[in-house]
Amino acid sequence: MTSASFSIGSVSVQGDVILAPMDGLSDQPFRSLARRLGSAMSYTEFLCADDVIHHRPGIGRRFAFDPMERPIAFQILDNDPQRILEAALLLERFSPDVIDVNLGCSSRHVSQRGSGSGMLREPQKIAATFALLTRHLSIPVSAKIRLGWDDSSRNYLEVAHIIQENGGSLLAVHGRTRHQAYSGAADWDAIAEVCSSVSIPVIANGDVRSAADITRLKDHTGCAAVMIGRAAVGNPWIFSRRDRPEIPPDEVCATIKTHLDAVLAFYGSPHGLVLFRKFARGYLSPYHPDPAFSHRLLTETDPCQFMTEVTSFLSQVNALPPAYS
Ligand SMILES: Cc1cc2nc3c(=O)[nH]c(=O)nc-3n(C[C@H](O)[C@H](O)[C@H](O)COP(=O)(O)O)c2cc1C
Repeated sequence: MTSASFSIGSVSVQGDVILAPMDGLSDQPFRSLARRLGSAMSYTEFLCADDVIHHRPGIGRRFAFDPMERPIAFQILDNDPQRILEAALLLERFSPDVIDVNLGCSSRHVSQRGSGSGMLREPQKIAATFALLTRHLSIPVSAKIRLGWDDSSRNYLEVAHIIQENGGSLLAVHGRTRHQAYSGAADWDAIAEVCSSVSIPVIANGDVRSAADITRLKDHTGCAAVMIGRAAVGNPWIFSRRDRPEIPPDEVCATIKTHLDAVLAFYGSPHGLVLFRKFARGYLSPYHPDPAFSHRLLTETDPCQFMTEVTSFLSQVNALPPAYS
């Protein structure tokens, strides 16, 4: 366990490895599991400001949280400073610890509208958003950014300064541009530049797949904490700095059961089981299950039968070789 800690304004964070916000993945059951395994704080999936303002069905479930997840950041996505403020004021009533603004979403229909990473093309809007939020909210405000829109407009230092100068208390940086989406390698040098040029804490993000990567990214950038997204799906133990080969199949099985039970309690059955399939794939793919088994498992609609199949499968697999990553 690490004794590292940092502060987001007046909010103290104990630890230096954090589950990334991921639409469709970092819901309350998965975030709670990650927190129990060592993730130092929680971020919700993005919350569209319009959905919050108009109380659209399902929005409450996207920011429901377990008190043990604190500190928790509610992440807002929109392209309009006033609408972001309106949503933030509504969300503040549900007592998050931090309001985060999504300046990184790369999906075409979001970014082309000027939301998410699209806002990186309008730094003055970022300034207006942070000026408004920090004036009107009583909790800290943060942002999650990418490096810029594309290679010819990598304005991450300008954006980082704008956020800091307008009262932002924390910055998470995914080391890719919007144009890259998820291709190429995350640019850890650029994240290091941000860390050394602002005084607010920086969370470094991109391409951490192992416990050794956590240490490498911290050493490379001098960041306050490391954020992990895709690699946590299938290996939530990474928040305890444990790689998949260190997790025996019976522990994998027990965690799948705990996670599935939490998903079923949160979403109900059979919807919860359908949503759990992507996690099941992540937990089991290191063992290369044969396609017939995978198909049977991932189309199963009865949670008890699903768990029986998983238990039987995991009782027959060998531990992963140490070289697996
Ligand atoms: C399926 C998926 C959904 C995501 N949803 C969000 C989101 O809601 N908000 C956000 O800021 N980033 C989102 N991201 C980006 C991640 O937070 C993270 O920046 C990215 O995956 C890079 O980190 P990684 O290499 O550890 O996966 C998402 C990524 C994925 C793969």
